[in-house]
Amino acid sequence: MKPEEIRSQFPALAQTVYGKPLVYLDNAATAQRPVSVLDKERALASTANANIHRAVHKLAVDATEEYERTRDIVKDFLNAGSREEIIFTSGTTMSINLVASCFGEAFVHEGDEIIVSVAEHHSNIVSWQLLCQRKKAALKVLDIDEFGGLQVDSLEKLISQRTKIIAISHISNVLGLVNPVREIVRIAHGHDIPVLVDGAQGSIHEEVDVQEMDCDFYAFSGHKVYGATGTGVLYGKKKWLDAMPPYMGGGEMIETVRFSGTTFAPLPGKFEAGTQNFNAVPTLQEALRLARQFQQDPEVAQNEWAITHYLTEALAADSRIRVYGVPRGTQVKIPLFSFSVEGVHHEDLALILDKMGIAVRSGQMCAEPLMDRCGVTGMLRVSFAPYNTMEEAEYFVKCLNKAISMLI
Ligand code: ALA
Repeated sequence: MKPEEIRSQFPALAQTVYGKPLVYLDNAATAQRPVSVLDKERALASTANANIHRAVHKLAVDATEEYERTRDIVKDFLNAGSREEIIFTSGTTMSINLVASCFGEAFVHEGDEIIVSVAEHHSNIVSWQLLCQRKKAALKVLDIDEFGGLQVDSLEKLISQRTKIIAISHISNVLGLVNPVREIVRIAHGHDIPVLVDGAQGSIHEEVDVQEMDCDFYAFSGHKVYGATGTGVLYGKKKWLDAMPPYMGGGEMIETVRFSGTTFAPLPGKFEAGTQNFNAVPTLQEALRLARQFQQDPEVAQNEWAITHYLTEALAADSRIRVYGVPRGTQVKIPLFSFSVEGVHHEDLALILDKMGIAVRSGQMCAEPLMDRCGVTGMLRVSFAPYNTMEEAEYFVKCLNKAISMLI
């Protein structure tokens, strides 16, 4: 499909801001939602609006069926081995915190070590720091090279007898480079160490197969794959999920509750305490169908490649701009560019671009350690989706030039 055909399904893209047509280039933070997703949530809220897994009345049964059908669809989307390995959460952050908390409770002890990379989102750093504080464990950090690639060659040196888990992003939300997760998993498993993959960006750009990747955990968010916000997924291998204690108590995560002791529901219910987001989770049915359709569409791939190629050249041609995350060899770069401009504050540029109708991300990108590593206080980021056109990319470059000239 061509971007023009795709964008007609996304009503938010038709608006103007400050009298200018919206050019939405903040997709890595939140993707826009198609009519089918918006309609689904509204239809459920207007009909099957009842608590799931509880009552026997029609509304409750319909809501439960929609919710559980979504679990099967997510299982297929990730090619997980079983539906028990799919846990619904509020987003990637909750998914990672769940693992840090519950895996950490069971398997991390004083003196143990956890490995993350310097390019991780705060969610994949702070959740582990909290665990380390609680357990008196240590966080070790895998570095990047000058181009932004993970120094996978150094991983073996970081691993010790005390390493309990490696937590790494599939694609950095700042650098836009596809990390060699299969290779990382191979190295980690050679030492019997499980791997958590933060798939917040990977799930949208790659056709993820968790069995082929062989990761132990994979986390992603609904709002980045055209679904409703407040939805997320944690995939975990059954052997780990079974061995972990529950995250929160309450609702239907129990088997029997007595004051003398409580037993817990089997997977996946054990990790889904409280009333679930039952109007929003089923939007993933349509969102993931679309995401997979886009991932497999050669016209979408061609458009994304053309935009990535164009921006790589256009940004490199301007000596005032420094881009972070440059692919080397066969490494893949997604259409996501973070950069800084010598002598110009990123927020000033973002504000001017906003007035020109262009929505970009600016600041620390929830990745302050990576900002420190790159020697900047913040960056600007543009991230493209299948509904973005080459004309928008060209308009962005023209406006960026103008904005820089206004500030220098
Ligand atoms: N993590 C999101 C981003 O990269 C919010 O912008």
